[in-house]
Amino acid sequence: MENFKISGFDHCELYVGNAKQSAYYYQHAFGFEPVSYSGLETGNREKVSYVMQQNQVKFVLSSPLISGTDISRHIDRHGDGVKDISFSVNDAEKAWKETTSKGAKSVIKPKLIQDSYGEAVIATIQTYGDTTHTFIDRSKYKGTFLPGYENIQTPNTDISTGIIHIDHVVGNQPDGDMKKVCEFYEKIFGWHRFWSVDDKDVSTKYSSLRSIVMSNENEKVKMPINEPANGLKKSQIQEYIDFYNGPGVQHIAMSTKDIISTVKKLKSNGVQFLPTPKSYYEDLSNRIDDIQEDLDAIAELGILVDSDEKGYMLQIFTKPIQDRPTLFYEIIQRRGSNSFGKGNFKALFESIEREQSQRGNL
Ligand code: FE2
Repeated sequence: MENFKISGFDHCELYVGNAKQSAYYYQHAFGFEPVSYSGLETGNREKVSYVMQQNQVKFVLSSPLISGTDISRHIDRHGDGVKDISFSVNDAEKAWKETTSKGAKSVIKPKLIQDSYGEAVIATIQTYGDTTHTFIDRSKYKGTFLPGYENIQTPNTDISTGIIHIDHVVGNQPDGDMKKVCEFYEKIFGWHRFWSVDDKDVSTKYSSLRSIVMSNENEKVKMPINEPANGLKKSQIQEYIDFYNGPGVQHIAMSTKDIISTVKKLKSNGVQFLPTPKSYYEDLSNRIDDIQEDLDAIAELGILVDSDEKGYMLQIFTKPIQDRPTLFYEIIQRRGSNSFGKGNFKALFESIEREQSQRGNL
């Protein structure tokens, strides 16, 4: 029997306390266009969702309309956070059958949904913590998002910040659970290990972590899985686990073709990034050859650079985007490199630790 195929990330759904205000933030800070909507006006009495899109990145921001729902319990336990990481597949029913027969827990059995734009098949399984994966076959659907959502007409203004696609989605696990979660992806999906770091690579005086990047067959989907390692004080991963009350999505990395322009726009829109110490840039051009970008602009914006044998990459991390120190975003521009920034972990961790210390969590 031929296996089902994952072609890439479809979207991520976040459960948030106030979807209307979150949508405003994603639109005016990150440059996402609101494209579809589901809520009271479309006949949904329990849940409101805004679909925000920028090029290939889609986020669904959902809030409960009534009390006592799974969404409200999720928000109470975790704060705002990523509920679902969905994948585009060629056959959602087959994906569900295969993964559940290998031991994945079913959340939603395969179902056909349809409206005047066509039909789609969706099915959902459980992964780490309260996080889920939805399989979506939208090959017979011509609408903007999915049946049940209505298009939002927006004025034709260019608010894009140059974000192109989801590069990777990172999951934090409690100490000792990283291997178990990676084995889940190997066993259930047949995924492989793409990259890994251990605590010898990425420890500062305080923080430390281990990470393994799991990837699907075509390597369009990359999911690093982290766990804390013991340092002198509290690992940033442990801080996440404490505030999220268990495992969950730590960050989503979004690509750009011009990180300098993207970060400038995001900053002028009010997005806050982790600062990088000036000392990081002192020997940057000695560490990495042939950086095409303007080095002064890179230093000015606090962008980090790392390289491997295939090239280099530029990256920067936002501060947490909600009050709990949990979910944040990464902006990444790859110039050949498949790196996940091992060379930057020390500088990055030192920056995170300064913030942790201000929160009284170090
Ligand atoms: Fe990342």
